Amino acid sequence: MNSIAPSLLAADFSRLGEQVAEAQLAGAHRLHFDVMDGHFVPNLSMGPMILAAIRSLARVPLEVHLMVEDPGKFIEPFVRAGADSLIVHLEVLPDPLPILQAIRKLGKKACLAINPETAIDKMEPFLKDIDLALCMTVHPGFGGQRYLPESDERIRQLRQLIDRQQASCELEVDGGIDHVTAKSALTAGANVLVAGTSIFRDPRGIAAAVHEFQEICDHGA
Ligand code: DX5
Ligand code: ZN
Repeated sequence: MNSIAPSLLAADFSRLGEQVAEAQLAGAHRLHFDVMDGHFVPNLSMGPMILAAIRSLARVPLEVHLMVEDPGKFIEPFVRAGADSLIVHLEVLPDPLPILQAIRKLGKKACLAINPETAIDKMEPFLKDIDLALCMTVHPGFGGQRYLPESDERIRQLRQLIDRQQASCELEVDGGIDHVTAKSALTAGANVLVAGTSIFRDPRGIAAAVHEFQEICDHGA
């Protein structure tokens, strides 16, 4: 089954509660929460206090995307704040296994992300130990960027590695996902779509955008 994960980074923060409720009511299967530390990426975003506020109104799972240099410092704070999944980046982890195991020990989903400039085969040794593989389809740090054209091929490669190992992890894409790029990402083998700008800034409103993504998720590409 394919899923849509609205990225709160593009929400109107002066009305965050209402926007979370609207995305959820429209049928979003989960919510994506971007954490940036100003080191791993050149931007700052949200911390555990904001996640805790969202947790108090959200009924769907919350996935936390840690775009930080030292993710180990933040696993427990975000779990305490209500995270259901923790996504850590391959690029900052010489050996990702200990942190993935620590996340699972806390009863949460352990997820591994890869940036556009990192070779896809670096994910291969960990696919059996994760719940979700995140293929970045933009350089992380900012919302509203364009889907990188090489992404389709990278998604295809990652899908092949997952299938070859019969790994049960999901394959998520993040960055520049709109109603057009969603279709190519799904065709290439993704099954979870993160979308910020194309949901929260859709002139038709959040619900219409979510419904259109759901159609694409349900009927494939
Ligand atoms: C980018 C973040 C994304 C971002 C996607 O660094 O990881 O989750 O919110 O935003 P859009 O959908 O606007 O590209
Ligand atoms: Zn993200």
